[in-house]
Amino acid sequence: MYLSKADIENTERIQRLNIINSISGIKPGNLIGTRSNEGQANLAIISSVIHLGSNPAYLGFIVRPSGDVRRHTQENITENGWFTINHIRTEFIENAHYTSAKFDHNVSEFDSCGLTEETINDFHAPFVKESVLKMGLRHVESVPIKSSGTTMIVGQIEHLVMPDHAMNKDGYIDLGLADGVGISGLNSYYKLEKLADFPYARVSEKPDFDQ
Ligand SMILES: Cc1cc2nc3c(=O)[nH]c(=O)nc-3n(C[C@H](O)[C@H](O)[C@H](O)COP(=O)(O)O)c2cc1C
Repeated sequence: MYLSKADIENTERIQRLNIINSISGIKPGNLIGTRSNEGQANLAIISSVIHLGSNPAYLGFIVRPSGDVRRHTQENITENGWFTINHIRTEFIENAHYTSAKFDHNVSEFDSCGLTEETINDFHAPFVKESVLKMGLRHVESVPIKSSGTTMIVGQIEHLVMPDHAMNKDGYIDLGLADGVGISGLNSYYKLEKLADFPYARVSEKPDFDQ
């Protein structure tokens, strides 16, 4: 199949949304936990988390244009600056998926979707107890992406919790051993399996692929 820009623009809306949401490849499966200043916990599935730097340790994620719908995650982060990123495990993908429903702001997705709030080191934002790889972050900046009307929310990691057995001596984390999941589009979930490890790629050490 080949689609030109015009074909993409003429594709039926939902089909286009599904195609374009899938073609970036596998995205990380995370739940973002926040709490309003009034104490209301909120949890939302987000597949756009990306690495932005190791020192300082920065991660970012993209929030969609709000339009008429309130974005509780963004509102809470703007209000007090704290959020958690919790890796989704294979055993609770369905619970995680339903956090994307448009719940009222006074409803906790933890309660509605069968997940458990956890407090770590008095951190203001709630962690997901069922997640084994999770982080608490402080909001650093929100960057508007004018071309798409989206916003990148950047945070610095202040707390990091992960399973000892999933990390090797060099600090690489085997996300398969941590039972992590990948996401395609907006409703397909994949199991992760590590295929290989390669050393830092140097021109002088490149294998001879012509053989
Ligand atoms: C698989 C999946 C991935 C999603 N990823 C994102 C994302 O990266 N950014 C975003 O703004 N919304 C994303 N959503 C939609 C949010 O989960 C949804 O809008 C949710 O209601 C937001 O909750 P909130 O209003 O409590 O912040 C995703 C939904 C699904 C099902």
